[in-house]
Amino acid sequence: MRNLCIVGLQWGDEGKGKIVDYYADRFHSVVRYNGGSNAGHTIVIGKRTYVFHLLPSGLLKGKRLLIGPGVALDPQTLKEEVEMIKKEGHRPKLVVDGRCTIVTPLDKEMDAFIEELRKETAIGTTKRGIGPAYAMRALRLTPRAGDLERGTFDLGAALAFYKTFLKRLPPMEGWAESARASLKGVIGDVGEEIMTENEEGHSVLFEGAQGVLLDLIHGTYPYVTGTHTIASYVPPSLGIPTSSLGEVMGVAKAYSTRVGEGPFPTEIHGTLEKEIREAGREYGATTGRPRRVGWLDLVALKYAVKMNGVTTLALTKLDILTKIKEFKVCTHYSVDGKETDSFSRALPLLSSVEPVYLDLPSLYGAELNTNKLNKPTERFVEYLERELGVTISIVSMGEERTATHQRAAQRS
Ligand code: IMO
Ligand code: MG
Repeated sequence: MRNLCIVGLQWGDEGKGKIVDYYADRFHSVVRYNGGSNAGHTIVIGKRTYVFHLLPSGLLKGKRLLIGPGVALDPQTLKEEVEMIKKEGHRPKLVVDGRCTIVTPLDKEMDAFIEELRKETAIGTTKRGIGPAYAMRALRLTPRAGDLERGTFDLGAALAFYKTFLKRLPPMEGWAESARASLKGVIGDVGEEIMTENEEGHSVLFEGAQGVLLDLIHGTYPYVTGTHTIASYVPPSLGIPTSSLGEVMGVAKAYSTRVGEGPFPTEIHGTLEKEIREAGREYGATTGRPRRVGWLDLVALKYAVKMNGVTTLALTKLDILTKIKEFKVCTHYSVDGKETDSFSRALPLLSSVEPVYLDLPSLYGAELNTNKLNKPTERFVEYLERELGVTISIVSMGEERTATHQRAAQRS
């Protein structure tokens, strides 16, 4: 029995959904531990594309689905996703932790309202109410999933709070009843479930949302999400011992993207930007916004690998590089004329650093084969392994489930 944690190493959208679906076979349960419906995890099987915002991506492999207490849970999204997959004939085996922070329509309105107030300094949030829900949790003004389901929480104090702050309250009549109905029969204790499964010899897969650079403390603050996204958040957010974390697998794209505002040293502007965006279909799965694109940033990636204790990595979207003539990676930043490869040192100055690039042999037109990597790809993968000090166990060459090269055995 060994658990596995799959964590995004960039600014989200690394392809975690595909990798979680790919690995889910070996696990008894798949567990979401952070974020909420700001996530957009995409799984492609043949002609069918699924996007899940809240339900763990182990769903299409018939796994038990656990939503842990650290998640900000929007009952509306839950209802829509459960209905959608029931229509497709799936019977989700779902447990929602009774301690999850509930996202109400009030939080979503506050999210949009604050973004408007910020004007040109807006964060570019997904407006899914994530930050406000965690803030309301800290203020003890929002119900937990169990409170809502039992009908024991009085929204009166929260409503009074919002009324004094917000002039355009969303309609709230009937919300609590409908939200309550979507939680009926699924409330449980997710930490307990995981510990029992592990005791019985089953392993579970922890599915991260967002990416390390969006972590509330360790990311590019204030352009971050409302919660932690790093792997070491798994034990406290779920209420399980640190030793249960198991192996940590990082997911990184062969280039970078970012949705929303905030510093992005390797960002590309112009024709190439559009080429990569179109080739990689880089549009937000949650908001539909065009994603900003850039070269792979090894300074940031090393920081993410180290902080998460990543031992094995899934490299995604390699196929996109075969459609692009140029190919480079950022190895250092130049800060005030001095070179550094320390992301944490550069972090306070990130919007003004100059990336220093290494040109690599273009993969343009290269044929990709899921059985064997071609020479230039193998060289690139080995270069990354040396630079990052990890094994690359998966190279993803397309969004479809089968477009996956399994390079080295994942150890658990
Ligand atoms: P997955 O799990 C990409 C970004 C938003 C914004 C910032 C804050 O699909 O990788 P929030 O709504 O969380 O308060 O917005 O974080 N963001 C994501 N970007 N993928 C995600 O999730 C994201 N979740 C939040 O675009 O910049
Ligand atoms: Mg996303």
